Amino acid sequence: MEISKRLLPQSHLKEHPSDETKLGFGDILTDHIFKMDYYDGSWCQPRIEPLSPLCLSPAAMVLHYSQTIFEGLKCYRHPDGRLALFRPRDNFRRLNQSAERMAIPLVDEKFLLEALKELLRIEGGWTPSVPGSSLYIRPTIIATEPHLGVRPAKEYLLFIILGPVGAYYKGGFSPIKIYVESFYTRSAPGGLGAVKAGPSYAASLLATEKAARKGFSQLLWLDSVEHRYVEEVGSMNMFFVIDGKIVTSLLTGTVLPGVTRSSVLTVARDLGLEVEERLLDIKEITDAKDSGRLTEAFGSGTAAVISPVGTLCHDDVEFVVADGRVGPITQKLYDELVGIQYGHAPDTRGWIEFID
Ligand code: COI
Repeated sequence: MEISKRLLPQSHLKEHPSDETKLGFGDILTDHIFKMDYYDGSWCQPRIEPLSPLCLSPAAMVLHYSQTIFEGLKCYRHPDGRLALFRPRDNFRRLNQSAERMAIPLVDEKFLLEALKELLRIEGGWTPSVPGSSLYIRPTIIATEPHLGVRPAKEYLLFIILGPVGAYYKGGFSPIKIYVESFYTRSAPGGLGAVKAGPSYAASLLATEKAARKGFSQLLWLDSVEHRYVEEVGSMNMFFVIDGKIVTSLLTGTVLPGVTRSSVLTVARDLGLEVEERLLDIKEITDAKDSGRLTEAFGSGTAAVISPVGTLCHDDVEFVVADGRVGPITQKLYDELVGIQYGHAPDTRGWIEFID
């Protein structure tokens, strides 16, 4: 399929952020958007056009039944100026896994990657270069068909928007405070936890707000059946270092298979660290803390990459991990991963794709 283009004249382009060291997350969008429609049984009309508000019927099914999925990935500026995507194929594969679960028609992953690269050839200049910054990429699909009966929509819009970002958490790469949530849950067996669907994020908001009021930046979600097993931390995968081993939750169907999670596990194994993917009882974590065997904790995700956990609060008892500092294994994994993403370390695993 040919991608049509309608671009803004130079004089209408927005000004880029004047200070890249002050970038937040998710407030600034670039000038152009990629869009593609689905109707009459196929994806069609791929196009790049000026970013503008969407025109939707108030009966658009996404507004009523939340049939929407998204992805998040990043483009980094390497020291030689080249623009590098990190494992984009994995994100587009997961987009299709999400689409399948949400009864949304699948997309051609290869075509979508080409479309993204085409968009980046136009918008790549927005990619910041200061450490910790990148161009965040948000592919999204929404059900646009105006219809009020409950069934999968017959019409969709896929779009990709971009924006320069800095650290996801205000403090950057510094330890965060986590509240272990024992009542509200993020996902249930057979539910949406393993895919990136908008409704899962909406379901997390109230509990996260309540924890924020108590001074915690994120929640540690437990399983919804026994309220025992660690699942995710905020919108990240969760890791602990116990007895020197890196332990993370098993992908049981209620945990998102994070691209960063998989990268952390690979890098850790290649560094010769012992890694375990298994069920993790919160009691095991508190016991390991009490006996001094829990030495580090961190979350991983595209937005924050790796976020050290400094404090955990379970059943109203707060405890500090790694003296509230960044532990050595957390630091090492962060350095390795960020080194590859920003082109300071060799990409020996074929994770980087350059925009030519
Ligand atoms: C990620 O870091 O992978 C996320 O999903 C965060 C995003 C929802 C802002």
